[in-house]
Amino acid sequence: MTNLAVFASGSGSNFEAIARSCADGRLDARVVVCVCDRPGAGVVERARRLGVPVLEFRPRDYAGKRDFERMIADRLDEEGVELVCLAGYMRIVGEELLGRYGGRILNIHPALLPAFPGAHAIRDAFEYGVKVYGVTIHYIDETIDGGTIVSQAAVPYDGDDIDEVEAMIHQAEHRLYVDTISRIINSKEGKQE
Ligand code: GRF
Repeated sequence: MTNLAVFASGSGSNFEAIARSCADGRLDARVVVCVCDRPGAGVVERARRLGVPVLEFRPRDYAGKRDFERMIADRLDEEGVELVCLAGYMRIVGEELLGRYGGRILNIHPALLPAFPGAHAIRDAFEYGVKVYGVTIHYIDETIDGGTIVSQAAVPYDGDDIDEVEAMIHQAEHRLYVDTISRIINSKEGKQE
């Protein structure tokens, strides 16, 4: 059983996909803490409903990033977290967390990196007029949306409705995140994929 932490700032649909997969046994893991930097965000309500402990904090209550990241990393240590999953955590991870959890932090990005990095990937891809959208899961490093790519899924779409393609991308995200975590956990335990 692998201990996961999921970090999110917003609605938390990826958090929910991961937490539900843990609960129904699809993932041999449990979410020991949901970290949220925006108290009141949708993810907090989802976590409560699913019985996942929440660590909510306001960055402005701390002197700087190093201080709140130290507080977070201390909690991850206490909980025995082995893998961190960023799921719409709208903040650049700094030195403190990278120093203590580097190489064990995954991120999900709603585009086929290295195309369309940044906070508005779906809109950017739509405005560019791509016909194949996608999702990337990667380990993070100190660069924005950089780091080693672990998995990708393509989402072909040739329509003109951004809401429609966004919904398709989110569905692909949920599947890919759970499958990727599963692969990582199984390879860690030396099981066959
Ligand atoms: C996802 O599109 C993810 O790729 C991006 O932020 C969004 C989070 O959505 N990093 P949700 O909060 O999981 O619904």
